Amino acid sequence: MKNLVVAIDGPAGAGKSTVAQLAAKKLGYTYIDTGAMYRAVAWKTLQQGKKVTDELILAVVKDIDVNLQYQDGKTTVTVDGTDVTGQIRTPEVSAIVSQVAALGPVREKMVDLQRKMGERGSVLMDGRDIATNVLPNADVKIFLTASIEERARRRHKELTEKGYEIDMEKMKADIAARDKADSEREISPLVQAEDATLLDTTGLSIDEVVERILAMCK
Ligand code: DC
Repeated sequence: MKNLVVAIDGPAGAGKSTVAQLAAKKLGYTYIDTGAMYRAVAWKTLQQGKKVTDELILAVVKDIDVNLQYQDGKTTVTVDGTDVTGQIRTPEVSAIVSQVAALGPVREKMVDLQRKMGERGSVLMDGRDIATNVLPNADVKIFLTASIEERARRRHKELTEKGYEIDMEKMKADIAARDKADSEREISPLVQAEDATLLDTTGLSIDEVVERILAMCK
């Protein structure tokens, strides 16, 4: 397959990273998880041990080195050289990441890095503003979504497997709050690009979604 640039956007829990990772592997492409970059900034903010304010986040982002390495089908995220891959998907990070991602200077720095990674082609990048803002000239644009019930179920399963005990109703409320924050923020809100194809994954298996993505890349 050609050296395509594939952009996948969608709300929390739509399954983007799971299916994008698998599709990238099948295509022999690099997978770029942009949400992980915002999570890395959120993680470092929490490490400061202070009350989380916009000022604190801005001070953190001024002096942070976020790096994504994709190898053998796995993404490793480092912050200032430390591997934080296992620490960026906690409920604590999720609780502040929308606040982090809404700040202009945070987005500027991350989008700059993302565009550099996208330039090389043969990439599959997922996030919220990839087709609309980061890579508007992407060859394939997909908007991945699912019902809020299904998205909450998926996130709940993921966290339960990691040993967290979270109430399903709370999970649903957290996802709805993040949807609202991501869709209503001023800078690069989550919206489907006009030229993106909508893919609703409610009731579809992971393999079925991957197959549909691969078909769109043909
Ligand atoms: O996909 P995720 O749940 O790991 O994303 C974490 C947060 O980062 C999410 O609340 C929205 C934000 N985000 C963003 O604003 N822009 C992106 N390109 C990717 C993620």
